[in-house]
Amino acid sequence: MSGKIRENFGSRFTVVMALAGSAIGLGNIWRFPYMVGEHGGAAFIIIYVLCSLFIALPIFFCESILGKSTGKDTFGALEAVAPGTKWKNEGYVALLGSFVIVSFYSVVGGWSVDFLIRSFTTGFAGETLGEAAGIFQKMTSSVWEPIACLTVFLGITALIVARGIEKGIGRFAKVMMPLLFIMIVVIVIRSCTLPGAEKGIEYLLKPDFSKIDGPAIAAALGQGFFSLSLGVGCVLTYSSYMRKEENVLYTGVWTAVFDTFFAILAGFAIMPAVFSAGLEPSAGPSLVYETLPVIFSRMGRIVPVIFFLTILIAALTSSMSMLEVLVTWLVDQKGISRRKATLLFFCACWVLGCVCAVSSKVFSVCDFMSSNVFMMIGALVFALVVGWKMSRSEVRSQFTNYGTSHKAGAVFPVVWFLIKWVAPAGIVIIAVTNLL
Ligand code: TRP
Repeated sequence: MSGKIRENFGSRFTVVMALAGSAIGLGNIWRFPYMVGEHGGAAFIIIYVLCSLFIALPIFFCESILGKSTGKDTFGALEAVAPGTKWKNEGYVALLGSFVIVSFYSVVGGWSVDFLIRSFTTGFAGETLGEAAGIFQKMTSSVWEPIACLTVFLGITALIVARGIEKGIGRFAKVMMPLLFIMIVVIVIRSCTLPGAEKGIEYLLKPDFSKIDGPAIAAALGQGFFSLSLGVGCVLTYSSYMRKEENVLYTGVWTAVFDTFFAILAGFAIMPAVFSAGLEPSAGPSLVYETLPVIFSRMGRIVPVIFFLTILIAALTSSMSMLEVLVTWLVDQKGISRRKATLLFFCACWVLGCVCAVSSKVFSVCDFMSSNVFMMIGALVFALVVGWKMSRSEVRSQFTNYGTSHKAGAVFPVVWFLIKWVAPAGIVIIAVTNLL
């Protein structure tokens, strides 16, 4: 740290908003609602919450403990808790994971810039579904439009990151995250009061336990990991900027609560509108960029604007967290200034992003590798290092702020068991299931 005092997020509210900002993103909006509907409604939500509670959240605590206790980047943190071992090489995997995810994520973020502009100008009013699908396909198959929008998206991300933890990321998150919740609630109200909305609510909530099988559980866990931004050092890096008096249990639980709550709200914003229009739900780009613009524009001129603004802000606060992993590494390990580090990685991500923008093949390889390989390796390493390399008393004192948090002390035995045994076993099972 070259003797300088490490920046911090300041207030507890800001830390939670920054972490929630990283967690809440495209994953909540375009994957979660569809997964819920397809895998048994409320039954899937229950499984999702259980997986998050017993596997994803313990990993979140591991990353948080590593970051907060060392005050270093992924690489430095692993070296500090397991000096002289090979564990620190996970730092490279985390960097690669963050780099790859932020690159393809920015392509999609760029689409939301494009559609936000469109919803201001043309507003999608009077378009049929076929026409809207045409707009999206034409946009993504052109070269310059997606690249220009990707540049804007990544540029905004870099400008915020360059301003630093407190003035950049912290300030953006603490203003934008509350706004995000307000905007999604507005859409939920509009959507749930449409005629025929009940069918969408039923699709999300009607529990069907017969649909809970191995693949559904693997899907729930994979989604939980992606949604909580685990395995590539985002949580670790943000936690390294926490003040010492912050509490890992508190920030972790609130992040998970906000993340899950937002995902469910997104479901209620989207599915009732889809069903009320007499359509079948789908996931991914076609839902967000083909179906919804038309449906939302029928609900008023302003609704698509709010919707794409919601997606844009949610995506920005997530991409910031990935770029920060890269920037913190350069600053901590190589002693480069934050501005220069941000500029360097902006350029690198821009190049890979451009390749992803024009080649859907590269895009899917990046998507697949990050979710199934980089994140899984990272999550496993973080759990093993905390569960097996650090001593129980050390982890306990970090988790409970040196024994001062009685709540954390009370749940620690359970958390320790989850970190040591349940989480690693869960990751291995899921990784193998997904790869086969
Ligand atoms: N969690 C974000 C979402 O749901 C995306 C994200 C941010 C992410 N940082 C990450 C995913 C790190 C995996 C790893 O959209």
